[in-house]
Amino acid sequence: MTTAYEKLLEKNKSWANEQIKSDPDFFSRLSHIQTPEFLWIGCSDSRVPADKITGTQPGEIFVHRNIANLVVHTDINLLSVLEYAVEVLKVKHIIVCGHYGCGGIKAAMENHSLGIIDKWLRNIKDVYRIHQTEIDNKNNIEEKANRLTELNVREQIMNLAKTSIVQKSWKHDQRPLLHGWVYGLNDGVIKPVCEMGPGFEIDPIYKYDNL
Ligand code: CO
Repeated sequence: MTTAYEKLLEKNKSWANEQIKSDPDFFSRLSHIQTPEFLWIGCSDSRVPADKITGTQPGEIFVHRNIANLVVHTDINLLSVLEYAVEVLKVKHIIVCGHYGCGGIKAAMENHSLGIIDKWLRNIKDVYRIHQTEIDNKNNIEEKANRLTELNVREQIMNLAKTSIVQKSWKHDQRPLLHGWVYGLNDGVIKPVCEMGPGFEIDPIYKYDNL
């Protein structure tokens, strides 16, 4: 009897064998260099795997995931990933991908304290507050959550645009293009909701003039 975790190791062995069979240089090539064009910022949700749903292979996407795909300007983890992706890997695109049916979005719309995560979800409550009229005008809780999911993605794209890292690269390197997407758990389809790139005029309050 193999346990659940042993099965993972077995699957790994057969995957590695398959890779070598179809592409003998696969691992030696990837072990030397990674040149992904994309940085993916997605939800930790196990049902939204970045590579599977985009049909990409190892080496193609640099990935950061957290609960509800947030870009928080004091998050040293995300900022380290962002800086490395933009300045070293020189990615051309950054995708923030939310998803309908997100537990983080739902929890942020409710009023129960859940522990430490309250602090994290506060960021989504702030997005709700900014767009409260629009969201509250929706007919039911599902429509409200769906709209908040889309608006949250747009807000995170704007949070990226507010960083010195993105502004500097926009100014000197004409990249990256920022894409806000929402993935449907029901049908597996990604819906693009917004796009921002070099030349986009961000709110002057957040604009740095010495980069
Ligand atoms: Co989620």
